[in-house]
Amino acid sequence: MTAVGIDAIELWSGKLRLDLAETFAPVKGEDPGKYTKGIGIEYSSLPDVYEDIVTMGANAAKQLMDRKGLTPDDIGRIDVATESAFDNSKPVSTYIAGCLEQVYDGDFHHANKGERKFACLSGTQCLDDAYNWIRAGRNRGRAALVIATDTALYERGDPGEATQGAGAVAMLIDEEPDIVALSTEQGYGSADETDFLKPNQQFPSVDGKRSIQVYLARMREALEDYESVAGDTHPEDFVYFPFHTPYPGMVRKAALLGYRHITRDTEIEDALADDIGMQPREENYETREDYEEAIRAYMDELKGTRQYQEWYEQAIEPTIQVSGQVGNWYTASVHLARLSALRAAASEDVDLAGEKMLVGSYGSGAQAEIHAETVRDGWREGVEGLDVDAQLADRYDLSFEEYELVHDVHNHQKEVEVEEFTQPEGEFVFTGWGRMNERRYEYVE
Ligand code: HMG
Repeated sequence: MTAVGIDAIELWSGKLRLDLAETFAPVKGEDPGKYTKGIGIEYSSLPDVYEDIVTMGANAAKQLMDRKGLTPDDIGRIDVATESAFDNSKPVSTYIAGCLEQVYDGDFHHANKGERKFACLSGTQCLDDAYNWIRAGRNRGRAALVIATDTALYERGDPGEATQGAGAVAMLIDEEPDIVALSTEQGYGSADETDFLKPNQQFPSVDGKRSIQVYLARMREALEDYESVAGDTHPEDFVYFPFHTPYPGMVRKAALLGYRHITRDTEIEDALADDIGMQPREENYETREDYEEAIRAYMDELKGTRQYQEWYEQAIEPTIQVSGQVGNWYTASVHLARLSALRAAASEDVDLAGEKMLVGSYGSGAQAEIHAETVRDGWREGVEGLDVDAQLADRYDLSFEEYELVHDVHNHQKEVEVEEFTQPEGEFVFTGWGRMNERRYEYVE
């Protein structure tokens, strides 16, 4: 069967940054370690005055098209994943296509365009749609452009404020891809939950502590479902485990739970038994509470073992490096985690071709999805040319007062005039509203 997967990736970060330890923590009266160590985010990327989900998505897509030498005729669908949309009818993909048509010959009139919503999960769902479209033979030799773009802002004062972020990841999905091939096998964990939602409101209503439990529960269900079709997972089957990363601290929790699951009934559990005993089995406990207490005690011990720490350093730590520099990019977050791992491998000159990754996506509301990806021969070239470091280094450092203004500029309930903090160059910018309240964009040379 022809491999289908990600042929190219590009990202576009919001051009401002908020330093959580130096700028946010002192105003909140918190120890900086809460953000840098506990939550695990050093900086949040935020959009400048002239940036939004369309500009960030279009800029990432343009970089991708330029690098691959593509024209609109090469693209048969454009799917946008976002939970920051500003229109209930007209999809963001039409705006992005409109932007791209300003700078390329030709147009996207024969490309299927859409917008996917399921909180942070929908970026992965767009990959699915593209995969299925290609597998069904409906693509006429063309590739799909998937763009995950979000401005992840919380109400001022919400505990989630420390996890904000803004940026976009564009991916080209094609046959015989250069970067990774997607597995046919998938697992889902899905339930009607109200942990994080935006009922016709811009900023989310969040039950932060519960959202952590819902994330873990749905991920575990998805892993079990994945194993029911792909067979048991073992830590050595996968070189990296990129998870949805609302903040690195969340991934630390998920990783520990995942490691316990995938080492059960393996030689690793046996090897650990001398030090920390075997994993608790429910049938050996009289009540569910006793069993859960035993699990917690086992996990506390597991966290300190050499085996777990080595696995975490190799398989998880590389996936959260970029997230710690930018915050939560919602729909793009798991795709940043994959990219982060690939970049780390490239910088350490690791040969990944043929290795597998287990990718865990998640969206509140809630649904997790797990699938495997096989790294392809062209992966190194695909990630080495990216200007991620330059983009992140060039961000403008906001003072707290400036951050407050930026939050207000992007608050749909407020109308404030604020000067831009950076000068746009070679990118799409937001220029104002048209006669039907549509948003307008132009390319700045
Ligand atoms: P909080 O309650 O203010 O923080 O916000 P905390 O008090 O729980 O502290 C955070 C961590 O820092 C804790 O670690 C502390 O111990 C530690 P933990 O116990 O959890 O391992 N800490 C310190 N560490 C070192 N030095 C210190 C220090 N002080 C404290 N000095 C909360 C946390 C997650 C509630 C908040 O950030 C929030 O509401 N976030 C938004 C919701 C969220 O991200 N949920 C994650 C799962 S849901 C999800 O991923 C979906 C999502 O992306 C949306 C979508 O799908 O669309 C959000």
